[in-house]
Order: sequence, then C-alpha cells, then structure tokens
Amino acid sequence: MPATIVIGAQWGDEGKGKITDLLAEKADVVVRYQGGNNAGHTIVRDGEEFKLHLIPSGILYAAKTCIIGNGVVVDPTILFGEIDALRARGIGVDNLRLSGNAHLIMPYHLLLDGASEKRLGRFKIGTTGRGIGPAYVDKYARLGIRVQDVLDEKILRRKIRAALAEKNRLLQLYDIGVLDPEQVADQFVGYRERMEPFICDASLLANQALDDGKHVLFEGAQGTLLDIDFGTYPFVTSSNPIAGGACTGAGVGPTRIDHVIGVAKAYTTRVGEGPFPTELTDEVGDAMCEVGREFGTTTGRKRRCGWLDLVALKYAVRVSGITHLAITKLDVLTGLRTLKVCTRYKAGRKVLDEFPLLQSDFHHAKPLCDELPGWSADIRDCESWADLPEAARDYVQFIAEFTKTRVKFIAVGPGREETVVLPRSIGRGGAV
Ligand code: GDP
Ligand code: IMO
Ligand code: MG
Repeated sequence: MPATIVIGAQWGDEGKGKITDLLAEKADVVVRYQGGNNAGHTIVRDGEEFKLHLIPSGILYAAKTCIIGNGVVVDPTILFGEIDALRARGIGVDNLRLSGNAHLIMPYHLLLDGASEKRLGRFKIGTTGRGIGPAYVDKYARLGIRVQDVLDEKILRRKIRAALAEKNRLLQLYDIGVLDPEQVADQFVGYRERMEPFICDASLLANQALDDGKHVLFEGAQGTLLDIDFGTYPFVTSSNPIAGGACTGAGVGPTRIDHVIGVAKAYTTRVGEGPFPTELTDEVGDAMCEVGREFGTTTGRKRRCGWLDLVALKYAVRVSGITHLAITKLDVLTGLRTLKVCTRYKAGRKVLDEFPLLQSDFHHAKPLCDELPGWSADIRDCESWADLPEAARDYVQFIAEFTKTRVKFIAVGPGREETVVLPRSIGRGGAV
C-alpha cells in the first residue's frame, strides 16, 4: 500500500482515527490533508485512550513522520496544546511536520464562527465553533494568514492589518467590538519559536517518501456527507474530506494514489444540524447512542444515531473511488433482533436509487429499508471472519455486495487489536 487514503464515508466519526492508527503500523508517513481541530480522532492503545484533533493518528508510533498538510487549517494554541499533552504522556513529536502553506485559524475566525451561528438562529449549521468555516473563507478570499507568515514579522503584521481592516467591520456588525491588529500580530509573532522547527514543504516531503518507495497514509477528517461540494450543503464543513481532497490538501498527484479506504460505521451517526433520513429517535437510536458511546470527541455533543444508509455509502464509494471499506462498530449492533439497512429513498412520489442531486429531495427522503437478522453473541473477541456469527457475516456481505466494494476491515471494539482483517482469500467470487 504505497499511497493509501483513509476517508470518512458518512458524516464523520466513523472511526478514522482507529483505522489510521491500525494502518500506520505498516506506513512510514501519515498526512492529515484537510479540516482542522473540528476533527476528533480517537485511538485506543493497550486500553489507553488518545483523542487527536490536529496531529495525524500515526503519532503513537515513534518512527513515523506525521505531516499536517497544506489543506489543513491550524489553530496554533490547539496545536501546541496537543503537542504538550502528547509529550506529557511520553509520546514524542519530533517527527511532526507542518506545511508552510497551511492556513492559520485566527482569533477573529473563532469569534465570527460563533457570531454567524447565532445570527442563523434556528437555521444554524451546528458547527464545532472552532473557526473552521471563517478560516477557509479567508483562504479563498486570499486574506488568509499562512503558517509561513510567522517566519516573517513584517509580512505577518501587514497581512493581519489587512485582514482585520475587513474583519473588524464584520465584528462590529455583530456587536463584538474590534481586535487590535498589533496585539494579534504580537501574539502570532510570539508563535514563531515554537512553530519554526516543524515547518516544512509538506508536498515535497510526501512525494519524496513515495519516490523512495515508502508507504504514505493520508488521513481524512470529517466525512463524505460533510464535504463542501458533495455533502448535505449547507450542513457541511468547509473543506473536501473526500479522497480528491488528499491530492489538493497534501500536494500529491492523483496518479500516485493506490488505495482509498472508506471508513463507515455499521450504522450511521451525525453531529450538528441537517437532514438524516435513517435517523432513529426511538429506543433503538438511544441504544445505539448508549452502547456506541456516541458523544462527540470534540464538542461532547450527543450524536444522532440511525440505521446504516447504503444509498449514501454507495455515493461515498462513487465520489471517492473507494477501493476497500472498513466497517466499524459492528459490536454496537449486537443484541438487536432485526437490523434495517436503507437501500433506496422515497421522496414524494419518487423512489430514488441514487443519492439525490436536489437538496429538497434529500430533506424529504424517507428511507426504504431491507431487513436483515441480527445476532446476539458478543463479537468483541472475534479475530477472524469465521469467528463472526453467521448473521454478522451476512450483514457485512450485504454491505459489500450492495456497494460492490470489498470489505477489508471489520472493527468489533475501540481497541487497536479489536479488528478483523479480512485476508484476500475470503469471499473470493463474492464481494467481500
Ligand atoms: P473519527 O473521528 O472517525 O476518528 O471517529 P471518533 O474517534 O470521533 O469516533 C469513533 C468512536 O468509536 C471512538 O470513541 C472510538 O474509540 C470508537 N470506536 C472505533 N471503532 C470502534 C468499534 O469497532 N467498536 C466500538 N464499540 N467503538 C469503536
Ligand atoms: P471527525 O474528523 C463529525 C460537523 C459539525 C457541523 C458541521 C460543520 O472527528 O470525523 P465545522 O465546525 O466543521 O464548520 O462544522 O460539520 N463536523 C463533524 N462531525 N465529525 C467531525 O470530524 C466533524 N467536524 C465537523 O458538527 O455539523
Ligand atoms: Mg471524530
């Protein structure tokens, strides 16, 4: 697997951190390519839990180079906090690298994120409040402050003044007051010393590693349905979590990518506002939330839960060219007598086989489900395909056949070792 992209195939929190950590064992370099500290990736190693927001999920291995790519938006205080927290737990970060082209989340981005949500009122997006949207707005408005700007005080001050000339007007409009450009600049000038050792040409580093035959893993944040272009707009994030985002967000060409691993829960969750056809507001949804501990890693918010949406998963396979699926949290479904999977939507009189183009169709979509039998035996100790109960195998086989995609990993618990890795020989002739 010389170049492998790991993406979220749903609305985020699919278990990308766990799968990236698992794959990182055989990788040399791990690159985050988009998003920022809106992400919360959990790794459980030997019973110890790590929650990463910015630093790639390869960092627990001492010898891996971990890169924060140009497509990521970086809040320096969060980055420093994460570095300190890892060091305090004995995890070294000397192999961490930060793209000089990545954009910085500035104090005014945080203020504007909150103000914009307040203004939207009941139409709010339910953002993580981390300044992500406003930081990407400035990137595209060409008003952004980049990591490399901290290396040149004169440029940094000039850019912050230019940005605040506009942002202060907006802040006033929101009755927040104004920020002093020199104070903000002083703060960021002060970051130089801590940031400089990490700054690199991330694209060069990733490409050189590939040239040397090394294994590079690209770790997505968020998920397909939160993608700015392909997600449930406007209830999305402001970047491209899909596989294409790895190319623009890390500076590697599409011809270099070998595999795309789509991570999907065996059911569906969503944090924040927006349509969710298979959402369950009954006791089954509550059970999924409780058993799956579905509370946000970043904001602690309760995640909305529902049945697996295979129409959306098929769409995720399409827009990212997913070559393999990792199905996580299969253990959470244990004990449910019958499992439903959404295979089509009904929107008004229309029956839709594909993810709809029109937002109003998706907003009104009612799931049409197939029913599959559940299983009752605990599966957390299962180590192989054969160990899984027949109904669990049939469930996974159904996903593989419906999406026409090979399932490579089945996670049956949060721990690194609680994963069934399917060898090539399994299900030959079938889809798995
Ligand atoms: P990410 O954002 O995609 O990395 O996912 P999160 O870390 O936000 O959320 C996934 C949660 O599920 C974390 O608490 C993981 O420890 C946990 N998890 C991952 N895989 C499994 C699994 O197979 N079973 C169970 N029970 N928990 C899992
Ligand atoms: P990981 O990487 C789940 C959601 C927010 C909100 C929308 C926009 O852990 O899977 P933003 O702050 O990005 O402007 O919020 O996107 N969201 C996530 N949901 N997992 C995430 O990251 C998310 N990052 C953002 O809840 O609905
Ligand atoms: Mg998460």
